Amino acid sequence: MIPLLDLKAQYRAIKSELDAAAIQVLENAQFILGPEVAAFEEEFARYCGTSEAIGVNSGTSALHLALLAGGVGPGDEVITTPFTFVASAATIVYTGARPVFVDIDPASFNLDVSLIERAITPRTKAIMPVHLFGQMADMDAVMDIARRHGLLVIEDAAQAHGAEYKGRRAGSIGQMGCFSFYPGKNLGAAGEGGAVVTGNAGYARKIRMLRDWGAERKYVHQIKGYNYRMEGMQGAILRVKLRHLETWTLARRAHAARYGELLAGCGVTLPEVMPHARHVYTVYNIRAANRESLRDALAQREIQTGIHYPMPVHLQPAYADLGYVQGDFPVAEQASAQVLALPLYPEMSAEQLEEVAAAVRSAVGAPVA
Ligand SMILES: Cc1ncc(COP(=O)(O)O)c(C=O)c1O
Repeated sequence: MIPLLDLKAQYRAIKSELDAAAIQVLENAQFILGPEVAAFEEEFARYCGTSEAIGVNSGTSALHLALLAGGVGPGDEVITTPFTFVASAATIVYTGARPVFVDIDPASFNLDVSLIERAITPRTKAIMPVHLFGQMADMDAVMDIARRHGLLVIEDAAQAHGAEYKGRRAGSIGQMGCFSFYPGKNLGAAGEGGAVVTGNAGYARKIRMLRDWGAERKYVHQIKGYNYRMEGMQGAILRVKLRHLETWTLARRAHAARYGELLAGCGVTLPEVMPHARHVYTVYNIRAANRESLRDALAQREIQTGIHYPMPVHLQPAYADLGYVQGDFPVAEQASAQVLALPLYPEMSAEQLEEVAAAVRSAVGAPVA
């Protein structure tokens, strides 16, 4: 059996470090925020190339607070992609604002930047590019449009730890960048976690207040806030894993390059790397016209696959009230019908990569490489 990802293998590889970090939290009893979270924030900000990072309890909370700190609220519109995890749009709705979707670029799966400007209205307050599957959106174009129209840019970098655009890290280009540390992410907690990174001290201060009941001093609530604090255990675990992230990222990139060799010319579309990008392969997504039969054939060989995402957000029943219909974003809709994620994680062996590639080739009737 080859899983889509193998968190047990990751634990085995760094067990002694993780065990020591977890025990230290239990001994110090610093369960909420505290020194491990503060140290993680400093280290993660440095990793992202920003001056500030604020640890929260999920990527969803990170997006919600970044939008609130940016002043997004009822009556506003935020431009984003329909081809993303539902949280990108859901958090816009949390603030009372409306997500306005634009279609994606078929090669990168990210926002088609040539469509952004025509979606801008007097209500538009922000753009939320989502760096999907480990590759950043075309940020020069996004930032240029935002500057010309006076809009805020909040990067959804939940799938882009360490990804780069022209040498700049995900999260460091827009006014704020939001990360998820959901266990399966490239940097994953032992539970839920998230962070906002920013170079703006004012946003950072507001987010620190909002995550902790709107208070800077205990029981003095300056603004209406939330309980979105990061747990001490997650800070400690994430500090350990952050030390390994670059090695893991290099392994992911090497595995993706190997898939590229093994799957070349077999008739499925491989992930395309944009000229500006350092892709970190959070998800290795191929496209196949006959996706379901390919998926079944791989399952028969005990190879796990994933579908990210089978239905774009504009067609989800929960967001029917936005008024979008089938056909509104044909590129996103086609991607939803064709994408298939193959197993890819740092601990994968050369033999496992070869086995997956051979199974794909045989399922689509291509000669063995
Ligand atoms: C693109 C994207 N945005 C937001 C989120 C939300 O993060 P979380 O699950 O940590 O709340 C996720 C991941 O789950 C995601 O993939």
